Amino acid sequence: MDNHNQHSLSLQVNEDVQLKLLEERHSTAYYELTDRNRRYLREWMGWLDEERSVEQTCEYIAMRLQQYIQHQGFLLGIYYQQRLVGSIGLHALDWSKRKGEIGYWLDAGTQRQGVMTDACRALTTYAFDEYQLNKVEIHCGVGNLRSRRIPERLGYKLEGIVRQNEWLYDHYIDHAIYGMLAGEWDAEKTFR
Ligand SMILES: CC(C)(COP(=O)(O)OP(=O)(O)OC[C@H]1O[C@@H](n2cnc3c(N)ncnc32)[C@H](O)[C@@H]1OP(=O)(O)O)[C@@H](O)C(=O)NCCC(=O)NCCS
Repeated sequence: MDNHNQHSLSLQVNEDVQLKLLEERHSTAYYELTDRNRRYLREWMGWLDEERSVEQTCEYIAMRLQQYIQHQGFLLGIYYQQRLVGSIGLHALDWSKRKGEIGYWLDAGTQRQGVMTDACRALTTYAFDEYQLNKVEIHCGVGNLRSRRIPERLGYKLEGIVRQNEWLYDHYIDHAIYGMLAGEWDAEKTFR
């Protein structure tokens, strides 16, 4: 079902949803998806001004691929019925604590079907089973209730609120930090 050879990480989440490592050859598709969703993403994602061309997107993908090769995280495209509809990744790896963070976004028109909850469940399992992490965190804007519902549905614990933890174009936002420990994780028991 999945393997972690270089440039071949792929997870079949369910019949409709697949996660695949983003590579440079996907830059145009990923850029166009980002560009179509620019206004909607801007509410909660701080990096839109760094994604102004296919070349910039390609540089970002190359950086995340390098991260994958160095076992420091990765960025996966989310494919829904074979169509690229977003991304989910593991980043901020701290091997001294065997801890990492999951980040994600989805095409506006693909929301509300459980695609991200399913993707996040699969990636949490991968982080514990394959990456051998002890802890996975998800940092959500306090007001980003749609995002917060994902770790909540999956049984992550709210660990606290970190004040002014991100600069979003013209203001700071607070983060709600959710955490899951390897010893607590049981994907089968999470809400579907
Ligand atoms: C955050 C984000 C990924 C959430 O998307 P989403 O569509 O709400 O999440 P899911 O794909 O898990 O779908 C959940 C919805 O599908 C419903 N659903 C249907 N089938 C489901 C299933 N099998 N499992 C879970 N939920 C299901 C849920 O009830 C929920 O519906 P609701 O919106 O009426 O409450 C999306 O809004 C987004 O990308 N936002 C912009 C970027 C962003 O904020 N990223 C996160 C930064 S921390």
